[in-house]
Amino acid sequence: MFESIPKVPPDPIFSLVDRFRADPNPDKINLTVGVYQNEQSQTPVMRCVKQAEERLLEQENTKNYLGIGGLEAFDRATAALLLGETQAFENNCYTCIQTPGGTGALRIAAEYLDKLRPSAKLWIGLPTWANHMNIFSQANVQISHYDYLDKSKTALNFESLVEALDESTEGDAFLFHTCCHNPSGFDLAVDQWEIIFGFVRERNLLPIFDCAYQGFRESLETDVFPLRRMAELGSEFLICSSNSKNFGLYAERVGALTGVCKDAAAADKLGAYLKSLIRAIYSNPPKHGAGIVATVLDDPGLRESWHAELEEVRNRIGSMRRLLVDKLSQQLGDQFNFMLQQNGMFSFTGLTPAEVDQLREEHSIYMLRSGRVNVAGVNQDNVDRLC
Ligand code: LMR
Repeated sequence: MFESIPKVPPDPIFSLVDRFRADPNPDKINLTVGVYQNEQSQTPVMRCVKQAEERLLEQENTKNYLGIGGLEAFDRATAALLLGETQAFENNCYTCIQTPGGTGALRIAAEYLDKLRPSAKLWIGLPTWANHMNIFSQANVQISHYDYLDKSKTALNFESLVEALDESTEGDAFLFHTCCHNPSGFDLAVDQWEIIFGFVRERNLLPIFDCAYQGFRESLETDVFPLRRMAELGSEFLICSSNSKNFGLYAERVGALTGVCKDAAAADKLGAYLKSLIRAIYSNPPKHGAGIVATVLDDPGLRESWHAELEEVRNRIGSMRRLLVDKLSQQLGDQFNFMLQQNGMFSFTGLTPAEVDQLREEHSIYMLRSGRVNVAGVNQDNVDRLC
């Protein structure tokens, strides 16, 4: 029976993590999965998270189910973090539902498209996070693509996005990276977002924002500019957010699906529909990670220490990016200066799959075959060997 199962290719990100772990070379360098590493190549638990966990352990008196939509305090705090003081938030024109990670949110958004917009296309700029294609195609969503980057892969190709917007039809959906584009690190500029929003309103398009790196580009507030601007303009859209990175809660699977709607009644209807999808997939989400996030966001002291820790993370990644480009330019001139225009954890290096394979096989330097590196894997000890 099972012998007829087709052979599937290994996951392009997690299979490399396994290979890195199995490599006995003591000087190996891990620039693969999007997980923060400190100067010692470790991924520590944030101090505010440890403190919140201590409180939770002390105060918890039941393991009863959460509702289908998750922990209410988490949902409200997440919507506030994403939407700020916009009218949409103040007037409850949103629904926010806790999901198992950002992936869980994306999968529910995909189910929504499949069930309620079966003739709509979803437009995705390539390259994108490898799992985006899996998630939406496994939910039978029709996908169309455009080129997010130019041929050199070292700059945006905004014309291609505008052509896709122009070709789209009423009701189509567009997947956008809110900030810190994965895998390239190249983000859209404010004036480019304004052009996109013009099309969204004119064609009644549905933007789906993947928001996995709030706080990694510049600040918690400015990183979500596209979401808040969209909300101000009164458009309807979905946000798939993750707390894996900005709280370092990778293994706890904490995320949310937020729908911003024209009014509170529409938001209630959307929320009820999304919950009906969730009930049939995983019933209701796990509690621990969402409890941590809600505890930190609701306590001014813990929240302040979270801001400070997130700033440390952001600053370290920024300084490793500058160090890397600096060292590369000492040996190779300014050909890698484009990396200074990229944001967040990732950088597209422009290396080919063959070059990436060679680095891995001959030097134990691990990065994605697309040429993506996790800049957080660079440190003072390994940067010279890497360059
Ligand atoms: C990545 O892109 O490396 C991360 O988002 C981890 C993942 O799930 O792929």
